[in-house]
Amino acid sequence: MKLVVMENHEEMSKYACQLIVSKVNSLTSPVLGLATGSTPERLYEMLIEEYKQKLVSFSRVKTFNLDEYVGLRGHDKNSYRYYMDHHLFSKVNFTKRKNHIPNGMASQLEQECQRYEQLIKEAGGIDLQILGLGHNGHIGFNEPGTPFSSRTHVVDLDCTTREANARFFESIKEVPTQAITMGIETILESKQIILLVSGEQKATAMQRLLNGEVSEDFPASVLKRHHDVTIIADKAALQLQ
Ligand code: GLP
Repeated sequence: MKLVVMENHEEMSKYACQLIVSKVNSLTSPVLGLATGSTPERLYEMLIEEYKQKLVSFSRVKTFNLDEYVGLRGHDKNSYRYYMDHHLFSKVNFTKRKNHIPNGMASQLEQECQRYEQLIKEAGGIDLQILGLGHNGHIGFNEPGTPFSSRTHVVDLDCTTREANARFFESIKEVPTQAITMGIETILESKQIILLVSGEQKATAMQRLLNGEVSEDFPASVLKRHHDVTIIADKAALQLQ
């Protein structure tokens, strides 16, 4: 894993933005894996800026999001579909049908997971996957204890994850209890991975990631087994080093 230390969230976002722009510009049919949460919000704003300045085009780009809540409709403002439409998809020149997110409203969730895996395969795999880091080390919604061999699946969300994400909802009772997430093995098949980590509230998780062992108890630790991972972290996230 390569660690890039940035001064703050803004600089972290800028660095990630430039990596993505170069990747998109260097490939004929780029496939990006995207993440939600607060961490990449500024990055998405910067990508929109680059697009407006004609420094990048998304017309050839396919995207696959990591995860989606079960039971929220696409127009629910807490669904990850809504998040992506709002923060990025509707603001640049993506071809709409090329933006994939698991369907958390599917009546057959298992089938939906298999369909999602198939779509990634048909796209030729993910060229560049963006990840955020959960407080408990989750990546996507792969909670501690998830087998490293997991593929896209339905998960029961940890209490700690629901608490961390409750800030986006009216109350914790409204936070869904389940989600669909790309599996750990699915994520590891990405050709290149960027992990974004920002803020002091991630310092403990960051310390464990950098100094701890590879273990299913801490899902992000599996990234040490991938050949092309760049962690872009700000100083606040690294304050316990
Ligand atoms: C969420 C998402 C993850 C995200 C992580 C960190 O629960 N499922 O994909 O990376 O938690 O979120 P944040 O960036 O808001 O800290």
